Amino acid sequence: MSHKIKIGIIGGSGVDNPDLFQDRQEKFVETPYGKPSDALILGKISDVECVLLARHGRGHSIMPTNINYRANIHALKAEGCTHLLVTTACGSLREEIKPGDVVILDQFIDRTTKRQQTFYDGSYSSPRGVCHIPMHTPFCEHTRQVYIEACKELGITAHSSGTMVTIEGPRFSTVAESRMFRSWGADVINMTTVPEVVLAKEAGLCYASVAMATDYDCWKESGETVSVEAVLKTFKDNAEKAKNILFKVIPMIAQKDWTEVIQAHQDTARESVMLPPP
Ligand code: ADE
Repeated sequence: MSHKIKIGIIGGSGVDNPDLFQDRQEKFVETPYGKPSDALILGKISDVECVLLARHGRGHSIMPTNINYRANIHALKAEGCTHLLVTTACGSLREEIKPGDVVILDQFIDRTTKRQQTFYDGSYSSPRGVCHIPMHTPFCEHTRQVYIEACKELGITAHSSGTMVTIEGPRFSTVAESRMFRSWGADVINMTTVPEVVLAKEAGLCYASVAMATDYDCWKESGETVSVEAVLKTFKDNAEKAKNILFKVIPMIAQKDWTEVIQAHQDTARESVMLPPP
């Protein structure tokens, strides 16, 4: 029998519409790591069980550093999610990634400095051991491929790979930093992919991220530099696109047998924990 799936959605601006989300229910939860960013919204999209969580809270009141990433991932896993499909706004560090384009991420560079990146922190409520999770392939390759296929079927131009550099924020980058990130091979820039993807891997989940370019950051010699206004405007103009991709990809995921993929993610997570000798 194939493994039952449940889809966690993080970000999801425009998805929380009762007309699109069947059997909608709100659930406030606590985790050993504290409270997630907001209520979990339970329901179905195209008859597939889903759990929606607003990363910054529904009022967008939590800044990137202060998001309780561990509580968010723990809560979605505890709710039975097997997959996490996330969206994120980002700056583009490449001419060919235009504002409004989507990038199906496959790598990241970590420039965060103030975030908890593991569930196994040795505290009273954490699981036992030390976790050295491999980060060679941070995103679920199988889920990524379904996303690429979904974009193709929708006729949406998607960049099928891309390296995200996640900065601590909340400030945007200097021109010197932006140029340095380009020279490092980063394609896009945001403030939230790390540690979300790392914790999802520790939790053994199939995690994929669709990044929506909203601006060209500030590396270009001519043209507009990143601002809150530019980010919000492009994001709003393209929210429908992100939603369409999500609504296309969910039934496609539900049609596949994920038993082996889920098992492989869970094995990696389990085998990465070093336990003290008995
Ligand atoms: N989110 C959207 N645009 C961004 C940028 N240029 N830098 C960091 N985070 C972003």
